[in-house]
Amino acid sequence: MKKGLLLCLIAAFLVCCMAACGKTTPTPVPTQTVTEEVTPTPTEEPTEPPTPTPTPEPPTVYLKDVFGAHNMKVGTCLTTQMLSMPAKEQIILENYTSVTMENHMKPDYILSQEKSKEAGDIVVEFNRDMITMLDWAKEHNMAVRGHTLIWYSQTPQWIFYDNFDSKTGKKVDRKVMLKRMESYIRQVFEKLTEAGYADMFYAYDVANEAWMEDGKMRSQMNLWYEIIGEDYLWYAYSYARKYAPANIKLFYNDYNEQMQKKPEAIEAFVKTLVDDKGNSLIDGIGLQAHLYTSDSLTQYFAAVDRYSALGLIIEITELDVGLGAWQSIKKATDDNLAAQGRFYYELVNGIFERVDKGTLNMDSFTLWGINDSASWRQEYSPLLLDRYFKKKPAFYGVCQMKEYAGFAQ
Ligand code: GLA
Repeated sequence: MKKGLLLCLIAAFLVCCMAACGKTTPTPVPTQTVTEEVTPTPTEEPTEPPTPTPTPEPPTVYLKDVFGAHNMKVGTCLTTQMLSMPAKEQIILENYTSVTMENHMKPDYILSQEKSKEAGDIVVEFNRDMITMLDWAKEHNMAVRGHTLIWYSQTPQWIFYDNFDSKTGKKVDRKVMLKRMESYIRQVFEKLTEAGYADMFYAYDVANEAWMEDGKMRSQMNLWYEIIGEDYLWYAYSYARKYAPANIKLFYNDYNEQMQKKPEAIEAFVKTLVDDKGNSLIDGIGLQAHLYTSDSLTQYFAAVDRYSALGLIIEITELDVGLGAWQSIKKATDDNLAAQGRFYYELVNGIFERVDKGTLNMDSFTLWGINDSASWRQEYSPLLLDRYFKKKPAFYGVCQMKEYAGFAQ
């Protein structure tokens, strides 16, 4: 019995030893406690499309350098309001080399009724704003275009009446009106000289908008014409020649200068401006250039070339390019602003080409304002900067930077 029990115990011991060696039953892997972070599986190829390379910011460029490279001045019209904000003043100083008073040198602003009545002669009196702007121009070395002496508009009615008073209802005669015209023109140039401003002026619009698209002289609401007669312009230019300092070139300025019969009317007119010794009484033609993106530049340059062939200086004097057409304003969408940029590009390109070849004698190029919200035609968004003073494709068009001027649309 004892022997049998011992055998049983030995057999059980052997079975336990075999089990402990694990040959038959796999030992479970002890669970480890994970204390480190799991390393993420490396990402394979990116699934999103590659980010496009951002369009580079246009390089900084200033209008005065662009025009200076062609020996031209570049100008803007000026108001005291534009000088009251340092940011606007800085834009003008950085970009422009010439100014034209938007209003403050027009006849309405420089003739004193009270003093004329007292003196019994027409009296020119410079206004505060004009003086402020001329002093500013002098301080900043700006050249000035004079605008304007003889015009049917923005001219006080009382200058045409007896005793300088339209209430008399009695208009003066041709002889008296010619005397007043001479005195007025003489005083403007004398006073500019006395006040030390004359040297800044390089051009003066002696007459503005005297011809119509049908080729006739403007007669409606034009008291200069009504009282003096058809030769009133000849007298205006001969007085201006008599009194203007030699550095101030005498201009005739008009709008719609490329339209219908205006080019031939203006051409015929300037040919009559000759004194009895055969000397010319005029030096240049001012093209206002209040244009639209729908205008034909072929037609425009045909007129420019025609004026230029007269041997006179040609200046762009009031440029703005409205979106659309006169009675069909277009909105300032990206596409329309791009079209405007291309228009400005082509216009300035055609001018630079002619100036560089020597077929166009243009020394100055003036825009009628610096940004859309201050423009007299703001509903057409016609200028180079928008209402927030941001540069439009038009700005780059003028600067001849084609890649930013609306060609990529
Ligand atoms: C015309 C005149 C300018 C000015 C504009 C409107 O073009 O010549 O002086 O009055 O109209 O701002």
